[in-house]
Amino acid sequence: MCPTIVPYTYEAKKEKRIYFTSLLKDMKILVATEKPFARKAVDGIRSIVEEAGYQLELLEKYTEKAALLAAVADADALIIRSDKVTAEVIAAAKNLKIVVRAGAGYDNVDLEAAKARGIVVMNTPGQNSNAVAELAIAFMIYMSRNRFTPGTGCEIQGKRLGIHAYGNVGKLVGRKGKALGMEVVAYDPFITDDAVFAADGVKRVSSVEELYKVSDYLSLHIPATEQTRKSIGYDLLMSMPKGATLVNTARKEVIDEAGVIAALSEREDLKYITDIAPDAAAEMAEKFGKRFFATPKKMGAETAEANINAGLAAARQIVAFFKTGDTRFQVNK
Ligand code: 3PG
Repeated sequence: MCPTIVPYTYEAKKEKRIYFTSLLKDMKILVATEKPFARKAVDGIRSIVEEAGYQLELLEKYTEKAALLAAVADADALIIRSDKVTAEVIAAAKNLKIVVRAGAGYDNVDLEAAKARGIVVMNTPGQNSNAVAELAIAFMIYMSRNRFTPGTGCEIQGKRLGIHAYGNVGKLVGRKGKALGMEVVAYDPFITDDAVFAADGVKRVSSVEELYKVSDYLSLHIPATEQTRKSIGYDLLMSMPKGATLVNTARKEVIDEAGVIAALSEREDLKYITDIAPDAAAEMAEKFGKRFFATPKKMGAETAEANINAGLAAARQIVAFFKTGDTRFQVNK
């Protein structure tokens, strides 16, 4: 177990300074990404880490959990994407003090296990939002044009776009939808002030039920939590207008897959497109043909810009945490 790192002070005695300096030099920041960052992002992370006097280690494209367990053994800090940081990983990381999820959703980290060990968990909110928002819009167009196969499609201009959860991504999707001539409505259980939505020219609706009922395109931006698990299913889909499309760039866990299958089976006008392959992807593809699409691997945040924004933010947050104790983006307080 490493001693606690305290900020460097000029008042410190000479020996103490040498001690801190040597501690900082030995600090190991591990980037563990099963789905690697763009090279430019890794180079940027390395610069930040090394300028701070720490070492960077990379574990990319790993396929076995054992590789992650071995790599975290002597890591002081960990940068991840959707990589699973379970209680087992935390137990194996004896020196770990901070985990930064370079991205928005942190449902892949066992927050309680980290908290029990005093490990700070952070995300980098907003840093990859634009990439995800652009994909959501692309998904709408892709489904409206029969997945780019021959046949008459339809335009998204003049249609109503519903945003489910008005956070960083939801707001950007709304803004882009408006720029494309869509009418935008939104619902967020945590934002009840109409003015927040009105400022963006968006109309707030007062319930999830109302949102789905009026949305030709429904863009999902809720996190995966105990409350949202399997919360989107048969009833909501069946209430949607004729020809409606459900767009999921959030999480597969929020979908009740049996409910979606039942709704799309009953209503041949409904469509579902998702950036996170459902467990029942093969069945959905076979049953619904062009009305269903899932990306082979989650690609919402797969842009150089998003990787650079989120990766560099993660590195900076780690340096700020070690140097000044900054815990601004902590999600497991
Ligand atoms: C997020 O939560 O930030 C997105 O789902 C992106 O995840 P990724 O970093 O695994 O692409």
